[in-house]
Amino acid sequence: MLSITYAASAADAAAALVVLAGPDGALSAGAAAADAATGGAVKAAARAARFEGDVGSIVELFAPAGLATQRLLIVGTGPADKIDASVAERIGGAIAARLLTSGETTATVDVTGTVEGTLAAHLAHGAVLRSWRFDQYRTRLKDKQKPTLAGLTIIGGGDAAATHERLSGIAGGVARTRTLVTLPPNILYPESFVEQAMDLAALGVELIILDDAEMKRLGMGALLGVAQGSVRPARILAMRWNGTGKDDVKPVVFVGKGVTFDTGGISLKPPAGMEDMKWDMGGAGAVTGAMHALAARKAKAHVVGVVGLVENMPDGNAQRPGDVVTTMNGQTVEVLNTDAEGRLVLCDAIWWAQETFNPEIVVDLATLTGAIIISLGHEHAGMFCNDDGLAAQLAAAGSAVGEKLWRMPIGDAYDKLIDSDIADIKNVGPREGGSITAAQFIGRFVKPGVKWAHLDVAGTVWATKPGALHDKGATGFGVRLLDRFVAENFEA
Ligand code: BES
Ligand code: MN
Ligand code: ZN
Repeated sequence: MLSITYAASAADAAAALVVLAGPDGALSAGAAAADAATGGAVKAAARAARFEGDVGSIVELFAPAGLATQRLLIVGTGPADKIDASVAERIGGAIAARLLTSGETTATVDVTGTVEGTLAAHLAHGAVLRSWRFDQYRTRLKDKQKPTLAGLTIIGGGDAAATHERLSGIAGGVARTRTLVTLPPNILYPESFVEQAMDLAALGVELIILDDAEMKRLGMGALLGVAQGSVRPARILAMRWNGTGKDDVKPVVFVGKGVTFDTGGISLKPPAGMEDMKWDMGGAGAVTGAMHALAARKAKAHVVGVVGLVENMPDGNAQRPGDVVTTMNGQTVEVLNTDAEGRLVLCDAIWWAQETFNPEIVVDLATLTGAIIISLGHEHAGMFCNDDGLAAQLAAAGSAVGEKLWRMPIGDAYDKLIDSDIADIKNVGPREGGSITAAQFIGRFVKPGVKWAHLDVAGTVWATKPGALHDKGATGFGVRLLDRFVAENFEA
């Protein structure tokens, strides 16, 4: 991970130098100093490049006369009075994206007078998040393609230590999630997912693992029905972090869909794009990363993350369309489509979580439906919620960190669409409103009185284009959202 140092002045005059500027020729102190040292090259270059100071826009000068550095970046901040934490993160992200494979190993970022204090830590956080990559399986990268940037020195930022400490815990969680989401499905399967999470114990997280025999004993027929077509046994992993110092605080429970590969089962998916279904464990990945973040920054809250881990495969023992399975709470489900498997995993995982941890609040995250991508594209995750207060808290947390949620409707008229002719519930409704009936299915397993939100993250855990804080690929969506939700509402 990119290493960050805060200093009063530049340690290495030869390192790449980054200075900041706003719209209308507003140069920061560092930019003005560089302009003076180069005999006006900063202003001239900005003019020539039609630089307007937009957040994250960059003008790059090489071997500027008058400075020791071989590379000078002028980076836009937008209007000075609009620089908040998320703008600072986008600035840091833009710097990292530009320098990551540039050949530079270190860069000095002069934030004097613009992005100071906690904002400087957010700039660094954006750079750390944006510089995450996964190169484990690239054995033939050319030198020019390899990441070079190892560290940033932030100068003129003042004291950002406390904020930096907190944000690096969160960045660790995001990195963990991205790794889980990126790992190929022959490497990441239910048992190896659990293995990957074991080191959370070192952060003080209590780990509880259910194997298939235990789940069978508990009557988790829906979850096990999905798993039965795979040679890889299912697991449930619970991760508990209690930072309250008290034993009697009810936990907030997060539940994640962890389908480590979704072929669709006997209701087989078409081949084109099926490889995407390695990230059908994105909800479980986010929950795991959020637990990492909370424990790493020692959140003063009691939180349990539960992930239901299965592989959905077609084979001689796979469940059939038409099978009826019995869930842990006794409700029976007619499995009309084996590709609607996420809800079958979640219903048993959520029921077990409620029985075991007695929460007042349950938030589940799942790459549950293609339909949510049709509804919302990749900008917002869908939120389904039985409580206006909880919905408002989640929406606020999401917009604060740039992981946006859009509330979708639920209700009785949708709920009756999943009544089965032969069992209590069928696992698919009509094509219309497919994300909503999926949410209704999960809602039938929420205990009365429990405040519950379901986040359909199918459109947001994986990106085909780079964003401000991530490259293309795994985004880590959900970690910062859940962390903020806890920080704002459960840490007194
Ligand atoms: N994992 C998929 C949903 C999905 C699709 C996520 C595309 C990301 C991208 C889920 O298990 C699924 O297959 N859902 C079906 C439900 C249908 C059979 C009712 C779907 O969305 O098509
Ligand atoms: Mn499916
Ligand atoms: Zn799925």
